[in-house]
Amino acid sequence: ANDGYKLWLDYQPIQDPELKTQVKNLLDGVFFYGENDTYQVIKKELELASENMLDQSPIYSQERLGNSKLWIGTRDQLSQVLSLTQQGEIRELGADGYWRGPLVFEGKTYYAIIGNNPVGTLYGVFNWLNSIQTKTFNSSSIISDSPKVKVRMLNHWDNLDRTVERGYAGASIWDWHRLPGYVDPRYIDYARANASLGINAVSLTNVNANALILTTDFMKKVKVLADLFRPYGIKVFLTARFSAPIQIGGLKTADPLDPEVIKFWKEKTVEMYSFIPDFGGFLVKANSEGQPGPHEYGRNHAEGANMLADALAPHGGLLIWRAFVYSHEVDEDRHKQANLEFEPLDGKFRDNVIIQVKNGAIDFQPREPFHPLFGAVNHTQLGMEFQITQEYLGQATQLVFLAPMWEEVLKSKTFQPSQSSTVASVVETPINENHKTLIAGVSNIGTDRNWTGHLFGQANWYAFGKLAWDPELDSKAITDEWIKLTFGNSSELASKIETMMLESHEAAVDYMTPLGLHHIMGRSHHYGPGPWVTGGRADWTSLYYHRADSLGIGFDRTSSGSDALAQYAPEIAQEWSDPNQIPEKFLLWFHHLPWDFKLKNGMTLWDGIANHYDLGVKKAREMQQTWASLKGEIDPERFHHVEQLLAIQVEEAEWWRNACLLYFQSINHLPFPDNIEKPE
Ligand code: GCU
Repeated sequence: ANDGYKLWLDYQPIQDPELKTQVKNLLDGVFFYGENDTYQVIKKELELASENMLDQSPIYSQERLGNSKLWIGTRDQLSQVLSLTQQGEIRELGADGYWRGPLVFEGKTYYAIIGNNPVGTLYGVFNWLNSIQTKTFNSSSIISDSPKVKVRMLNHWDNLDRTVERGYAGASIWDWHRLPGYVDPRYIDYARANASLGINAVSLTNVNANALILTTDFMKKVKVLADLFRPYGIKVFLTARFSAPIQIGGLKTADPLDPEVIKFWKEKTVEMYSFIPDFGGFLVKANSEGQPGPHEYGRNHAEGANMLADALAPHGGLLIWRAFVYSHEVDEDRHKQANLEFEPLDGKFRDNVIIQVKNGAIDFQPREPFHPLFGAVNHTQLGMEFQITQEYLGQATQLVFLAPMWEEVLKSKTFQPSQSSTVASVVETPINENHKTLIAGVSNIGTDRNWTGHLFGQANWYAFGKLAWDPELDSKAITDEWIKLTFGNSSELASKIETMMLESHEAAVDYMTPLGLHHIMGRSHHYGPGPWVTGGRADWTSLYYHRADSLGIGFDRTSSGSDALAQYAPEIAQEWSDPNQIPEKFLLWFHHLPWDFKLKNGMTLWDGIANHYDLGVKKAREMQQTWASLKGEIDPERFHHVEQLLAIQVEEAEWWRNACLLYFQSINHLPFPDNIEKPE
C-alpha cells in the first residue's frame, strides 16, 4: 500500500544496473571524518536509503584510506586531503553550503560529500540521495550549492488544543498533551523531510497566539522538539502573544515601554534559553485582526518589536514581526495599510528584527500582485511570507500547485531600491552584514497519513522548501524533481503530471478570480464562491472588492480611486495605471471598468470574464482526464485518492463559474457569450 507517508523520501529500489553498481560501490565503504549528532542522523538516513535502494546496509570504514570510498565530513575535517583551491571554493559557498564530487588523494579517487558545517554535510547527503532517486547522479561530476536565504522557515498555525488555523490535513502534529514524556516518531520524519529541503526553522504555534506556550510547563515540551530537531539543523521559534505579560505575568499592562513589561520579557527569554540554548526567537502578529499589540498603549510597531528584540539579542535570537496588519480604522483601502504603517518606521527597527510580509497586500488570494512594501523600504529587513496551506485555493481538496504563483511573485520587478531589483533580490539581500534574510511558509501539514491531505499538497511543501533555499529557481525544475521522487522515473507519466501541475494554478485563478478579481469567496471558511457576501465590516464583504454595478466592475486603485498604486515604484504605477497597459491578470485589481471595456483579444470585459471562468472549468476537466489516462501506471491507492479529489475539483470549478457568472449577470443583465457552456 502506498499512503504517501514517506513523502519524497521513498527510496525505491534502484533498477538501473550501472547506477546500482556505482551506488553500491560507494555505500560499501563509507568513512566519516568525525562524530557528532548530525552525522548520526546522516548514518540513519544512509541506512534507510541503502536498505530500500539496495536491500543491504551501508558498510562503514574505520580508516580514512584502505577500503573507504565515500568520504563524509566538513571542510575543516577534510582539510588535509583538500587542496587550498578546493578549500577556498568550498569556503566561498558559505554556511550550510556543500560540495560533492570526486576527490583524488594519493593516487586513488574517492567520492566526497563535504559541508562547511555538519548541517551543510547533511544537505549534501540529501542532495546526493535525491540525485540517485532522480537518476541524475554521476560520480565524476562536481555539484555544489548553498542557500541564498538564511532563515528558511515553516510557520505552523497550530493551536495548543491541536486544532489548526486554516489547516486541512487533520490535527496538529504537535501532541502537546503527551509531551514531554511521549515522543511521536513522526517528529523525526517531519525533521527529515524538512532537512531534505533545507528548511532550517519552524515556528510551532499559531500567529493568533496563546500566551500559555510561554509558561514553564510548555517550555519543557518545546525543549523536547528543539532537541530532536537540532541535529537536523532546525531551530524552533514560537509565536509570542503581545499581551502575555498580562495573561501569564500577572501585570496590568503590556506597554512595551513599561519597565515591568520589559523585565517580564527579559526573564521569559532567559528562561526560554535555559531550556533551549539555540532557541530561534519569536514570531509576532500584533494589532491585526484583533490581536493585541503596542497600539493599545499609543506605541508603534517599532517600539513593540524592539522591546522584544532587545530581550532576544543577548542570546542571538530573532524577532519576526508581521506586516499583515489589518484593522478597519487605518485607510479606506486595506491594500494600503501595511505601507502606511511601516514606511514611516523604516530604519527604526533593531538589527535582529525581520518584518515578515505576505506575498500580496490583501491576503493570500488566488493571485495577487506583489506586496508594495517590497522595495519601498531601504533600512528595514523584509522577509517573505507565503501560504503553503491552500486557504483560498481549494484547501486540501483541490490540486493547485503553487510554485508557479510563488515564482511569479519572486520574479516580479520592484524597480526599487535599484532598477534591476526583484522581489527575490529584495528578500535575498541583507540590508547590512548584521541582518538575516527570511522566507517563511504557512504550513499545510497535519496528522493525515499523507501529511498534507491532498497528495499533491506535498508538492507545495516541497516547492516551498526549494524556493526558500533558492528563490531564483524555476518551477518547472522543481516540478520535475518532485514528480520523479514521488512517482518514479517514467518520462511519459512525468510529462503528463507536469502539465497538470504547472497549469493547475492558472486554472484555479480562471475559475475562481480571473482578471484581477479577488476576495469573492465564502465568508469565514473561505471555501467556495461568495461574490454576494455582505454584512459586517465593509472590508469583509465581497462587494467591497469587486464593486460590480450595472455599469462596470473592479476596484479603482489608481489616482482616481484609492491610489494604492502610488505605493509601487513610479515605473509600475505609471504602466499599471493605464488599463490598456497593465498586465490583464491584474486588471480589475487596480481598475474599475465598464462591462464593454475592450480586452487585448478584442472581447468585451464581460465576455472575457465569462470566457476565463469557462476556460478554468475546461482546464479542471482536462486535469481529470489526464489523471484518468494514468490508470494502471500509478498504484491504485494514490491513483484513487487523487481521482476522487479531482472529481470534486471539477464540480467545484463549475460551482465557482456558475455562481460568479450568474451573480454578476444579475447585476449587469448582459447575455452570456455564445461560445461558453451556459452556467445554470
Ligand atoms: C488570514 C486568515 C486568518 C489568519 C490571518 C493571518 O486572514 O484567514 O486565519 O489568522 O490570515 O495571517 O494572521
